Amino acid sequence: MNETLGIAGAGTIATGLAAVAARSGDVLLYARSERSADRARAAVTKTCGRMPDKPDPERVKIVTDLDAFGEASYLVEAVVEDHFAKSTLLTALAERAGEDTVIATTTSSLSIHELAGASGRPERFAGLHVFNPVPRMDLVELVFPHDANEDTRTRSRELCVAMGKTPVEVPDIPGFVVNRLLFPYLFDAIKLLEQTGMQAEAVDRCMTMGAGLPMGPLALLDFVGLDVSMAIGESIGLEIPERLATLVEEGALGRKAGRGFYGPS
Ligand code: CAA
Repeated sequence: MNETLGIAGAGTIATGLAAVAARSGDVLLYARSERSADRARAAVTKTCGRMPDKPDPERVKIVTDLDAFGEASYLVEAVVEDHFAKSTLLTALAERAGEDTVIATTTSSLSIHELAGASGRPERFAGLHVFNPVPRMDLVELVFPHDANEDTRTRSRELCVAMGKTPVEVPDIPGFVVNRLLFPYLFDAIKLLEQTGMQAEAVDRCMTMGAGLPMGPLALLDFVGLDVSMAIGESIGLEIPERLATLVEEGALGRKAGRGFYGPS
């Protein structure tokens, strides 16, 4: 990998991306506290251990001081799907970035144009939308603001390929392509539960066996996270199913919380 990668975030996407990048180079991962650094270390170690080629988790150097990113050539923001949180962090990354350093976001549904503006360096900005679970889903939806220069575009494509991913350039529209098409279907599955009283397992079994999908819609929502799914739905202008809003309000966020559409009721 020709880039020195700095990933800001300690969640599923950040640690999944760090584990994948560790296959081909040393990676910096910024966590905002010692507690989140410990969580990130455990997640990176677990994810590397699940990968067939077992990358060395020690290649991911976890830091809690953002100044360490001064030595990185390509910075990736991978924090909560919230415009203010992302914009604030992107501004902080830009303050530490070298002249040729690229800054990227992993947003799944926010405007790349707006986040590029927040970074103050649209010519050096990119969207790298990766999918859960990052080690298993090869697609990266690559989104550029209008002002992104050729070097930024070329290096972003090359970074995706170096990490074993397949970049597909998509337009800067809400939800890009996958979420714009996927989440209306996922939300329809929730409405089906509400309208018919069916169990989640039955709906999922219909879709895995009848449509050949690797995971049913309710299992997938639990896998992605119900809070993340709700944020995506709001970003792309979908009506939020009542059952989803209720579960999120109760803290039943899916797999990461041990309860969502599956798990103890
Ligand atoms: N990290 C975490 N979990 C993993 C994993 C990994 N690297 N690899 C597998 N798993 C999980 C699987 O979910 C599965 O969990 P359960 O048995 O508890 O259901 C388990 O480990 C078994 O793994 P297998 O490899 O045996 O399962 P599989 O061969 O069926 O593949 C899968 C697992 C690749 C996740 C497959 O089920 C799949 O492709 N699912 C669809 C995933 C998908 O659609 N992702 C996109 C979601 S939308 C999104 O991510 C966008 C966004 O912006 C949030």
